[in-house]
Amino acid sequence: MRRELVPAGAESLSYEIREIVVVANELKKMGLELVPENIGDPTAKGEKIVEWIKDEIKKLVDNDNTWGYCDTQGVLKTREFVAEQTNKEGGIQISPNDVYFFNGLGDAVAKIFGFLKREARVIGPTPAYSTHSSAEAAHSGYEHLTYTLNPDKDWEPDVDEIYNKAKYNDSIAGILLINPGNPTGAVIKRETLKRICEIAEELNLFVVCDEMYSEIVYSNAERVKLSTVIGNACGMSLNGISKQIPWPGSRCGWIEVYNKNKDKEFEKYIETILKAKRLEVCSTTLPQMAIPLVLGNPMYKEHLKMRSDKFEKRAKEASLIFNGHKGIRLIEPKGAFYMAVLFDEKLLNPTQTLPIANEQIKKRVEELCSQKHFENDKRFVYYLLGSTGIITVPMTGFYSKLKGIRLTLLEENDEKRQWIFTTIRDKMLEYIK
Ligand SMILES: Cc1ncc(COP(=O)(O)O)c(C=O)c1O
Repeated sequence: MRRELVPAGAESLSYEIREIVVVANELKKMGLELVPENIGDPTAKGEKIVEWIKDEIKKLVDNDNTWGYCDTQGVLKTREFVAEQTNKEGGIQISPNDVYFFNGLGDAVAKIFGFLKREARVIGPTPAYSTHSSAEAAHSGYEHLTYTLNPDKDWEPDVDEIYNKAKYNDSIAGILLINPGNPTGAVIKRETLKRICEIAEELNLFVVCDEMYSEIVYSNAERVKLSTVIGNACGMSLNGISKQIPWPGSRCGWIEVYNKNKDKEFEKYIETILKAKRLEVCSTTLPQMAIPLVLGNPMYKEHLKMRSDKFEKRAKEASLIFNGHKGIRLIEPKGAFYMAVLFDEKLLNPTQTLPIANEQIKKRVEELCSQKHFENDKRFVYYLLGSTGIITVPMTGFYSKLKGIRLTLLEENDEKRQWIFTTIRDKMLEYIK
């Protein structure tokens, strides 16, 4: 080509959660039986969609209006419903005009970072859900700016670090939070969330809070929505139906914008995101129309509680399996359906292996792991895959310096789930022996 085609920052576009699948499929052709533990899709792990929810969706298929385009910002009735739900939380009061629908949060995240001025940076957590960290790095053309989630304090964000970094680096325009967290399953405490909003207000920053898992908080933690602590800061909450119904294939998520009118620049930014959405006409209509019918159904609260209780029980089960062994530790999650099992890094080195019976698979794993700058936890993930067929994601794939793996609590078959956890634990211990 006579011109370079790829923008600066493009190398930051990486999504380890899916990239490992390419390798896994290659090994499958060599005879490996795969056990996917990498993707946060409850339906893929056997969760059955509840009948009354299916019935609501079936009725919508018969309504021809669900087949058409809708308003760019989203179906008005649904935005009214979403605003009403938020207002019931008792914090900031919003109108349907503060709600914007997207084709899943993946789409929203791409626009949030894609239409932010390149020099305006958003500081985010490490470890972080890689869609955010990659999108922020790709938009800026630099390494993602991070603050630490402390595993010794239940992954609580380091508020002093946020304050100091934001105060002394005036390129920082926003603070990103993921609550509950992916990949940690952590739930941010009320006072921490409140303090971060105060910092944002003091330093004139906006807050982006990904609340995709806000309906999956266990009984041992408090669910605190951004809208209840935002105060006078500008901010947005990101939410969707991929994980709570669950319906990830609906590609339906939304942002709620808080205090848009309190800052002209922030207002212009939100308006730009909406204009960008107009170029695409609108987001998926039918799932939006399903939201008031499903989320507003009297049975929905019970549905959410049943799911949260289920994941909480599984988190306790995992904790019993993984904790109490030298060299590895699980930080028990309090929400969502992920958890991180960390290695004691002193016990990792780039020569460790696991036995792989199939020679062809062994050779390929060795070859892959001999690539330059191959992280030690990624090396474990590849050997675990070759040795057992279990697909996991290394913590370093989540913009993390900590070494370990992310697991999900999604497997519905109790026996299989316990086998997966005990096999992974045994392999982790064998690996560092
Ligand atoms: C924290 C978080 N935000 C956003 C998403 C993407 O959601 P969607 O399916 O709406 O694109 C995910 C998916 O795993 C996630 O974990």
